[in-house]
Amino acid sequence: MKIAVLTGGGDAPGLNAVIRAVVKNAEENGHEIIGIRRGWAGLVNLDSLPLKYEDVWDIVGKGGTMLGSSRTNPVKMPDGVKKVSENLKKVAEGLIAIGGEDTLGVANALYKAGVKVVGVPKTIDNDLSNTDVTIGFDTAVNITVEAIDRIRTTGESHDRVMIVEVMGRHTGWIALHSGLAAGAELILLPEEKFDLDVVCKYIASWKSKGKRSGIVVVAEGAEMKESSYITTDAKTDSFGHVRLGGIGQFLADEIEKRVGMETRSVVLGHLARGGTPSAFDRYFGTRLGLEAVELVKQGKWGYMLSLQGTRLVSIPLESGVSKLKTVSPEMIETAKAFQK
Ligand code: F6P
Repeated sequence: MKIAVLTGGGDAPGLNAVIRAVVKNAEENGHEIIGIRRGWAGLVNLDSLPLKYEDVWDIVGKGGTMLGSSRTNPVKMPDGVKKVSENLKKVAEGLIAIGGEDTLGVANALYKAGVKVVGVPKTIDNDLSNTDVTIGFDTAVNITVEAIDRIRTTGESHDRVMIVEVMGRHTGWIALHSGLAAGAELILLPEEKFDLDVVCKYIASWKSKGKRSGIVVVAEGAEMKESSYITTDAKTDSFGHVRLGGIGQFLADEIEKRVGMETRSVVLGHLARGGTPSAFDRYFGTRLGLEAVELVKQGKWGYMLSLQGTRLVSIPLESGVSKLKTVSPEMIETAKAFQK
């Protein structure tokens, strides 16, 4: 059987480990893998290449995706779904789509239109429902923690408040995990709007406790009460997502003005998305890739893989993409545990 594989949406560390394991398991079982370049764009314009294990054996530790990616959305294109399914049929019988909410949302729409597709959960944001972790999240958190440790020492040397803006789109998983792991003084998540007065009063109170600097981790999608997203760019992508970013600098300006402490903002952004995957993402990616081929062998079209505890199970694509997995109220309280 010929099986196509693609990676869509924002890249994530660990994607190459998935691709390598897909090729390995397919080849072992006498199947052929066809790589699709640049996500759904490669099925709209049919851009593919055959993949052999000799092409991928050494990519487990490499960041990015050797297939390339894009934010192309065929569902929004006239005849996009038809074009994708016809082009897929020219090169393969089924497809393994590795992606997040957007890519797997398209996979689900294609499945409903009769395309044979299975999904693999990927996104540094970790916001897919019904799966504990997505590929790339662990690396993003580790890189962010290392960066915050570094930002803290320069902040301490200069008695500054350091604002660290991190990705995560409309969820605060990266901010929550990295903020707690790096001992951030304040963590601001999209799941709970913040009051700028309260934030400034809290930072002003540091002085009386003998604290002259501290770290504020803010998720790019965090919002103030009575205001919408602070962004530097009004652009949206083909899935209708606004380009987030800018809340960190806004906060830095306001804190400096209102509290009178020198404040700097650092946007980690794509830094946490690029580069070498963590050991976990290589291991997890390998498991996902091997198991994705098992789904294909079982004909479990319309399903995606999901990590539940330590078990890798299959769930309908629909249940992974129908709503975002957000930080729970209990975890929001955990984020506040050190903000006293
Ligand atoms: O979804 C992953 C993600 O990295 C988000 O955290 C972020 O908002 C977005 O992608 C950035 O997208 P782009 O790389 O297209 O600017």
